[in-house]
Amino acid sequence: MIVLGIESSCDETGLALFDSEKGMIGHIVNSQHDIHGKYGGVVPELASRDHVLKLVPLLDQLLSQNKISLHNINLIAFTNGPGLLGPLLTGASFAKSLAWSLKIKSIEVDHLEAHIFSPMITEKNLNLPFISLLVSGGHTILTLVKANSDYKVLGKTLDDSAGEVFDKVARHLGLAYPGGPEISKAAANTNKSSYKFPRPMIKTNCYNFSFSGLKTNVTQLINKLELNDLIISEIAYDFENSIIDVLITKTLKAAREYNIENIVIAGGVSANQKLRMRCNLEKGEKKIFFPDMAYSTDNGAMIAYIGWLKSSKKTKDISLEINPNPSSRFV
Ligand code: KG4
Ligand code: ZN
Repeated sequence: MIVLGIESSCDETGLALFDSEKGMIGHIVNSQHDIHGKYGGVVPELASRDHVLKLVPLLDQLLSQNKISLHNINLIAFTNGPGLLGPLLTGASFAKSLAWSLKIKSIEVDHLEAHIFSPMITEKNLNLPFISLLVSGGHTILTLVKANSDYKVLGKTLDDSAGEVFDKVARHLGLAYPGGPEISKAAANTNKSSYKFPRPMIKTNCYNFSFSGLKTNVTQLINKLELNDLIISEIAYDFENSIIDVLITKTLKAAREYNIENIVIAGGVSANQKLRMRCNLEKGEKKIFFPDMAYSTDNGAMIAYIGWLKSSKKTKDISLEINPNPSSRFV
């Protein structure tokens, strides 16, 4: 079976072709960072317009690069939420009308579930159950994944997500959007810091997170300082370490308390190299799985893959009705 995956929940237009026998055939992502960069965050209307412009040419490119015809596709999986309503509508309308014209089925996919299962695209040794830390621009959620569709949410952020705080602090430091990779680059210029920020909720007994106090603490400091490259690097260094300390401590605690061997860390922030390196150093007896770097931030491959995993469900649709869900069915 060949599944076309379509992602358009935010500022990436992602398409991919997944073959249930051969694996991922190919994927293509157009990022809108240049469009939104000057505003310091995603402008939903501009995002929707760019998805509309890019969906058809990207599909053409994906098919021709991989020498696949439209008529070889058996199922279309698309992100139905959570995300921005306009961008979701563009992908859903495109997916539904294409499926209708090809007389094939389409399947709605939850973006968060797609992230959570994304390491499985390349990792053959990842088995259920696992503890999942989903860290993206919109979410920070710790979940016990018992089986496909059997989840127990252990904790989540009470305010800002980790990615959101990376983006906002980067903006205050005068760094480009998206902020996560920029903070990492700045932090890599030093190996020490004169600043020591809080590690919010690191010692609490629950699995919830809270990052907005950290953000306020860092931005208030920034407002008092005359920034230069050294100060930016030292702030970025301890800020990045603070988030990583909290994420790793809570995730390992959950894995130990629930006696689960496998851990998955996915979502845009999982692209963070220091997080990956620290996990390797601190994992002890646990196994930690990350998505391939290409599948960490938003992409169509994870949508095609989860669409295939769920494709035996009877909910596959041939109607033209679209019903995007800007919040999540998952949490
Ligand atoms: O999963 P994603 O692409 O979109 C959402 O579903 O939200 O995540 C985007 C987030 C942004 O906040 C971005 O700053 C963050 O992921 N991010 C990173 C890195 N690369 C992307 N954060 C920290 N370090 C990175 N290397
Ligand atoms: Zn995402």
